[in-house]
Amino acid sequence: MSLMKVSLLLGMASIGLTIAVVFLCYSLYTYTCETNDASSYNKTTSSTTFSPLMSSTLPASEAPWEKDFRLSPDIIPKLYEVKLHPDLITGLFTCEEKISVRVLSRVNYIYLHIDRLNVTKSVVTQNGVNIPVKSAFSYPKNQYWVITLEKSLEVGECTLEFLADGNLRKQDIVGFYESRYKAANNETRLIATSKFEPTYARQAFPCFDEPSMKAKFLVKLVKPKDKYIALSNMNVKNSIEDSPGPNQTTVEFEVSVPMSTYLVCFIVCDFNALPSVKSTQGFPVNVYAREGQLENMKYAQDIAVKSINFYVEYFGINYPLPKLDLIAIPDFVSGAMEHWGLVTFREASVLYKKGSSSVVNMKRVAMTTSHELAHMWFGDLVTMGWWNDLWLNEGFASYMQYKSLAKVEPSWEVDTMFLTDMLHSTLQLDQTLSSHPIVQTVSNPDQITEIFDVISYQKGSSVIRMLENMMGADNFSKGVNSYLQEFQFKNAETNHLWAHLQRFAGNMSVTQVMDTYTRQMGFPLITVKKNGDQITFTQQRYLANSKANYDPNDSPFKYTWHVYITMTTSDAPNQTLSTWLYRNASEASISVPAKTTWVKVNRHQVGYFRVNYEPDMWKALIDQLITDHTVLDPRDRSNLLDDAFNLAESEHIGYNTTFSLMKYLSKEDHFVPWTDVYNKLARLEDKLYGTDGHANFQKYVRSLLRDKITTDTWVVENKDFLEVNVKIVLNDLGCNFGVKTCLSKAEELLRKWFKTGEKPDADLRGVVYRYGMENVGKEEWDQMWTKFKEEANPQEQLKMLGGLGSVKDIEQLEKFLEMAKDEKNIRSQDYFTVIIIVANNPIGLPVAWKYLQNNWDNLVKRFGLNHRVFGRIIPSVCSKFKTEDKLKEVEDFFAKHPNAGAGAAGRKQALETIQNNIKWVNKHAKPLAEWLEQNVSEEDV
Ligand SMILES: *[C@@H]1O[C@H](CO)[C@@H](O)[C@H](O)[C@H]1NC(C)=O
Ligand SMILES: *[C@@H]1O[C@H](CO)[C@@H](O)[C@H](O)[C@H]1NC(C)=O
Ligand SMILES: *[C@@H]1O[C@H](CO)[C@@H](O)[C@H](O)[C@H]1NC(C)=O
Ligand SMILES: *[C@@H]1O[C@H](CO)[C@@H](O)[C@H](O)[C@H]1NC(C)=O
Ligand SMILES: *[C@@H]1O[C@H](CO)[C@@H](O)[C@H](O)[C@H]1NC(C)=O
Ligand SMILES: [Zn+2]
Repeated sequence: MSLMKVSLLLGMASIGLTIAVVFLCYSLYTYTCETNDASSYNKTTSSTTFSPLMSSTLPASEAPWEKDFRLSPDIIPKLYEVKLHPDLITGLFTCEEKISVRVLSRVNYIYLHIDRLNVTKSVVTQNGVNIPVKSAFSYPKNQYWVITLEKSLEVGECTLEFLADGNLRKQDIVGFYESRYKAANNETRLIATSKFEPTYARQAFPCFDEPSMKAKFLVKLVKPKDKYIALSNMNVKNSIEDSPGPNQTTVEFEVSVPMSTYLVCFIVCDFNALPSVKSTQGFPVNVYAREGQLENMKYAQDIAVKSINFYVEYFGINYPLPKLDLIAIPDFVSGAMEHWGLVTFREASVLYKKGSSSVVNMKRVAMTTSHELAHMWFGDLVTMGWWNDLWLNEGFASYMQYKSLAKVEPSWEVDTMFLTDMLHSTLQLDQTLSSHPIVQTVSNPDQITEIFDVISYQKGSSVIRMLENMMGADNFSKGVNSYLQEFQFKNAETNHLWAHLQRFAGNMSVTQVMDTYTRQMGFPLITVKKNGDQITFTQQRYLANSKANYDPNDSPFKYTWHVYITMTTSDAPNQTLSTWLYRNASEASISVPAKTTWVKVNRHQVGYFRVNYEPDMWKALIDQLITDHTVLDPRDRSNLLDDAFNLAESEHIGYNTTFSLMKYLSKEDHFVPWTDVYNKLARLEDKLYGTDGHANFQKYVRSLLRDKITTDTWVVENKDFLEVNVKIVLNDLGCNFGVKTCLSKAEELLRKWFKTGEKPDADLRGVVYRYGMENVGKEEWDQMWTKFKEEANPQEQLKMLGGLGSVKDIEQLEKFLEMAKDEKNIRSQDYFTVIIIVANNPIGLPVAWKYLQNNWDNLVKRFGLNHRVFGRIIPSVCSKFKTEDKLKEVEDFFAKHPNAGAGAAGRKQALETIQNNIKWVNKHAKPLAEWLEQNVSEEDV
């Protein structure tokens, strides 16, 4: 699956006033269960956690299906023959199914997964003989369908047959579900589509819904005879018209390769395709979208072809399916999903229209597409054995998307972007006590849902990037290839990957090194000192709150790491020096020539750690940047900024160092360091907002921007990717910090559009809508709302939402939140985005918080407590709070609503963040205000 940040959706490089806990809506899952609401299921009484007292009072003979969420290893599926008949008029579907299984031991029962399905027939046959069923029933607690038999099955083959009914109309849009769109003639069109990862295939057909239960699939779909098409993972084998009834067609697909249930996909829709394009290997790459949006799939198709060609070559294994389809789905819960051979996307992450999509949208499409296609190997061909190792799928795909785009779009400098896209926000989360290790034990669907998070995706990809650098790119790809070869069509665990990489890793112990990054949370701070010609390195755990208490024995590695340290020096700025700082070593060192003036540790920020220097070493680096910043790579500049802001926050250095470092920015032209600065300044501003230093802080930032923002900053036509990006960030920053020329330009362009219908340049729209709308009246708001409702392009709509949520009018914002509730106004998939947008507006933050408190019960009803983004919405909104009062309010709220569903970790993070904010304000607000008072320049811009 693909991750998705609100800022990217809004078409801006970064959303201003970014929330401390990065908000990701890459998997807006819900898990509500009609027959048995899992959220009300009391986990403390789960069978796995019986207290000794309780178990002594219970019958010892618990039935196997009562025991836990994991299937029995005695029954293994081989082939599913699944026929689904969605009725788009009634919104119901029927499932007719035959599963061939292998029986590995004599059992007189079978259980497999179902959820929200009514099973009406269960038949078991073995060797052509019907085995009488004693009872067949659902066991909702573990989402099982259980069949007990009059006699035991023999070891060997066996066939299960089922009939089941289900409902396509689902608020949470997972499983097999209905999506709607409005056609050009204003007619509402219905389609049926599916999204099964991680545990929703069981909502479409009874199945052994665990990733290691791979089987082949023979799919049949019934579709309306006219206009509609049916799509699945494989290509069509044949179609039978007027079957099963008149005006219906039964489409049969080829039998699939062995795959996991969560990768199966069923679609019945009235979409068209662009002409297919052949990959180098020879299979066609097809793209589908609704009427009116089809042309906008061209860019994704281009990227898909280039990207899949890259992967076939890089992985050294052919793509094993006959075709690859990409399809844009109007209602989609995550960014995209890697169904094998039929990748589904949320429209805003795949449609690209020149002239109305921004470069940020373009990047999003390219990133999402190459992420999903990497999964065709990492995830689909080789799948994690269990969800504990989800990061093998997601961390790897998240890294490979950059590798592939580095080839496909070399001018984008994607490895530089990796820092602000993936690494920096992960470090920020992972430096708190409420983080968690990459590899984490999960068992129930809540926990499985919760692990699709920043750590799996972003820390996962960050440590893979680091490992590739330790081993060398060639050795790394050889190891990956060997791993994929061995495990193709099978399942693997983290250790299997390490074992294969080890074959090409020389003396380094891959497992020993990587365990310290994947099996404990957090990362080290490397402290660098210079003694004569020796540069020495020591490590300690880095925490945002450097005074936080923790027990080192909580980690099997006592919060120490094997660190591969790289370094460049003034003496040879293009040369990398390196050494290992082992976990138990007290220090490591590298000698440098006496004339060395500066050293920069962690070259290109490939290592997963922070670096602090002695004060005169910081000074030497800053001097170099001010004299000639180009001696250091943009990644190294971003790294220094990222570390300097964080180290000041954690009180390892003073803010004067950080602010001195920022002085070089008047020469900075690369968008990545600027994006990083943007995020850091916004974070600082959140903390200073409402304090004495705020006005001077804004003024200080304006002075940094003095020479950077000119009329040329607003000219983006015919500029290259990097240049447009830096202009977007600078305009955004200028507007955010009140540069007058910026704000008036934004307002001017907005009014011009209202008046003449001439839209601002696509790349500027995100900024223009957001800041132009800040001070408008009700009339303009209504005008924007009307335009929003008329707009067909989902990316454009999201940018407009950004504008609608930025007005400085409390009443209007309250109304906006109410309007967003209505699905006729705003698709369910975008609802939380609206709340986040409002909360990001300083005026809107209290509005959003009050709204959530007042509407909590209704929201729980609508989305279910196990909806991940819903689980994270409170923490996302609350993470900016910085007073004891607010902390208490949040604590009271949690006490009043103790059931966090899939948001338990998010709540913990929010509380820690607020506590850290309070400490920060107490410690830094006053001195910083004083420092600013003395250091802001007289003149303002
Ligand atoms: C859940 O379990 C806890 C601890 O055993 C108990 O105090 C509580 O009443 C239970 N809640 C429900 C709804 O059963
Ligand atoms: C499943 O059964 C329940 C209870 O009888 C019923 O309310 C529901 O409508 C059924 N669902 C379908 C899709 O048939
Ligand atoms: C569709 O509806 C819009 C607004 O409701 C209207 O302006 C437009 O004319 C309609 N189009 C057609 C083809 O009926
Ligand atoms: C089949 O579709 C045709 C054309 O749309 C329609 O005239 C006919 O009544 C339909 N037949 C049935 C049985 O629905
Ligand atoms: C370092 O590498 C860059 C890019 O390859 C080159 O332009 C520059 O001249 C090199 N600098 C030194 C000091 O070798
Ligand atoms: Zn993914």
